[in-house]
Amino acid sequence: MCVRGFFVLIQRGGSNLKTYNKLPAHIALRFAERGVDTDKIVRYVKGDMDLEQCFTDQVVAFDDQKFYIMTGLEHVIRVEKEKRLETVFDVSDFSERPLSTLGHLDVDQMIATARLVSEGDDGTLEEICDFAIGRSAAFEIFAKNFNRATSHIEEKDDGPIGEEPELFCPKCGTRYPNPARKVCPKCLSKSSLTFRLLSLFKRYIPQVLMILLFLALTTGFTILSPYFSTALIYDKVLVDKELHASGAADTFYFGIDLFHEIGLVVLGLIVVRVLQNVLGILRSRYIAGTVPKVVYDMKLMIFSAMQRLSVGFYTSKQTGSLMSRVNDDANNVYNFLINGIPYLFTSVLTFTGVLSLMFVINWKLTLIVFAAVPLIVTGYVLIMRAVRGMYHANWVYGSRMHALLSDALYGQRVIKAFTQEDAENTRFSSYSQRVNTSHTRLGLTQNTAYPLVGLIMRTAHMVLFGAGTILVLRGEMSVGILMTLTAYLNMLFEPLGFFTNLSNWWSSCVDSAQRIFEVIDAKSDLPDAENPVRLDTIKGDFEADGVLFEYEPGRPVVRNLTLSVKGGQMLGIVGKTGAGKSTLVNLLARLYDPNEGTITLDGHNIKDIFVGDLRRNIGIVSQDIYLFIGSIADNIRYARPDATLEEVITAARAACAHDFIIKLPDGYETRVGAGGQGLSGGERQRLSIARAIIQNPSILILDEATAAMDTETERNIQNSLTELQKGRTTIAIAHRLSTLRDADVLAVIDKGRVVEFGTHAELINLEGGTYKKLYDLQMEALKFIGTNS
Ligand SMILES: Nc1ncnc2c1ncn2[C@@H]1O[C@H](COP(=O)(O)OP(=O)(O)OP(=O)(O)O)[C@@H](O)[C@H]1O
Ligand SMILES: [Mg+2]
Repeated sequence: MCVRGFFVLIQRGGSNLKTYNKLPAHIALRFAERGVDTDKIVRYVKGDMDLEQCFTDQVVAFDDQKFYIMTGLEHVIRVEKEKRLETVFDVSDFSERPLSTLGHLDVDQMIATARLVSEGDDGTLEEICDFAIGRSAAFEIFAKNFNRATSHIEEKDDGPIGEEPELFCPKCGTRYPNPARKVCPKCLSKSSLTFRLLSLFKRYIPQVLMILLFLALTTGFTILSPYFSTALIYDKVLVDKELHASGAADTFYFGIDLFHEIGLVVLGLIVVRVLQNVLGILRSRYIAGTVPKVVYDMKLMIFSAMQRLSVGFYTSKQTGSLMSRVNDDANNVYNFLINGIPYLFTSVLTFTGVLSLMFVINWKLTLIVFAAVPLIVTGYVLIMRAVRGMYHANWVYGSRMHALLSDALYGQRVIKAFTQEDAENTRFSSYSQRVNTSHTRLGLTQNTAYPLVGLIMRTAHMVLFGAGTILVLRGEMSVGILMTLTAYLNMLFEPLGFFTNLSNWWSSCVDSAQRIFEVIDAKSDLPDAENPVRLDTIKGDFEADGVLFEYEPGRPVVRNLTLSVKGGQMLGIVGKTGAGKSTLVNLLARLYDPNEGTITLDGHNIKDIFVGDLRRNIGIVSQDIYLFIGSIADNIRYARPDATLEEVITAARAACAHDFIIKLPDGYETRVGAGGQGLSGGERQRLSIARAIIQNPSILILDEATAAMDTETERNIQNSLTELQKGRTTIAIAHRLSTLRDADVLAVIDKGRVVEFGTHAELINLEGGTYKKLYDLQMEALKFIGTNS
């Protein structure tokens, strides 16, 4: 028995442990069936192997008393009655043991698998469970939480350490379509989102009212026009003409009267059409003038919201979808607003207006033909269901082909270098074939199904026509009224297709709106202090104390790091690739906040300093250089757009960039594309240095700033950098130790920790030290080059 676990149990009386993550309902059910109080489960994690390393589903959990392992099969079943999918867990094995039998938990990683082990007080290891290596991060979190919850450091409760992506909606248990977004389509309040969307129109209420008025008027005229074009012509004009032809009326008199009436009707028709058109034009102009403004407001809101968000947000997995939020989602909403809503309004008005008129004209006939409406709606619904999947398939194959295309275009150099043109052609042809097949399927289905629905409509017409003719012959209805009813029937059926598709359209608009509002509402994980400290002048004393930082929960990249640099000094950072050097400088510039520990600048925690002041005073020449689309001069003056061309040239000269810039076709006005294509790595680095020089910051961070340059250029730049560093705190990262020859103090970083700290002289004398080893290696390499050259 492990005494530690037992001691904790007694100490805490087995109670008040916080719940870090809640079991999903279908798993909680299985635990409850075995007498476990699931409300007390502190944390669970899902595994995927048994101890024989066969793949299976597994849930490992603990509460304040016991440790549980449940093995079985988790799968999805279809609940036919409620037409939904449900996840169930079929248990094949369930074991539990007291917490006191476990020691400190750890994750042991092998090549493809990993295991959770318990280390007893005497150092013996017990294997608890196995899992694929991909699950290690989740198990690390679990182990960390377990160790925290069962150790004595109760007061240091940091809450849950990272969360595993939740796959199910906690409210209704439905599986999230996209676990990263955690939006449950069932629980999503579509109406509140729609109201929020409509509230964007608040600034444009007069325009909206005008649009609605025009819509109502045009619809009114549309409903009226069949009456003019059919009832009046047939009943007033043509019937009179028959009278005239039969000689029942006076020719001369009727001649004048006939033209008089035709004139009136034609005039009436023209007036109606003209009004309809004018109103239609006005309506469209108003819509076109208002909706883009709303969408513009929305895009601006998304974009400025994105600027607020931290770098961490962008490096997370969502980045790919962010561009489509500004573009596709906003356009989706735009389309619905500009086409969908006006059309909905018109369709509702037309449908109710026409139906009421038809009832007034002849309710019996209307009732007969109205029987076709449910048939048509059912037809449309069936078509929608059938083609929805096909549209999705089209989209999937289309986007795959798109990805392949861009891959092949960007990778032309590699394709040619490896003579893979034929292979690429074959790959493209197979993708293209899939797109083709899926388009054909959709086309065939639509071209068969829609005419069938059309057939129902035409049958209804025929019924109306047949029954109406009988009524006309019996003298119970005029020809004109029959024609009007026939015209109205068309108008009645027309919106039905739209209505059936409306909910899909609306859902997709609300979904897009949801994604947009998600960005707009996202809180920055680098919050501004409530009363930020303003720094006018910065001395540049940096201190990091006990800093721990993890990009992904459970995997610290910087750990327990403590170092300091005085204002005006130069700190050189060395370490192996992946040691965490860039991460450290990103923390100093507050592009991320540490998970633990503090970083202070001039005695203030950087979290309390006004972010604008902090960033203005820190110039970074980072390892990944980004050049914006624009001229070289604009890129150099990016941090200080008001810099004159003279200042830009001076900065470029200091960064040894002037010579190559003037050789470019347009000199300083040469446009550099996205990512600075067309420039070499060293040229881009020099532009980036010039950018930092022109910013004139109090603190300079150089992350491998000269790594891509030849030795001579580097030496020239070093001289300007030395000049630039005077009076500023400089933090420079370099693999080439000669770059750091001027450093006042050096820090050697290994696996996120400072393993050596001191001056060059101190570190070089540390026997067996990492710095000394690195230095000797580089010296040897230089000698080697020297002897061979
Ligand atoms: N955005 C990120 N998300 C997750 N992990 C990251 C991220 N950026 C870096 N890492 C990981 O953090 C570790 C440290 O990265 P960092 O860039 O700080 O290393 P470095 O010391 O600067 O290396 P190099 O000398 O190659 O530039 C690496 O293992 C890297 O894979
Ligand atoms: Mg780096």
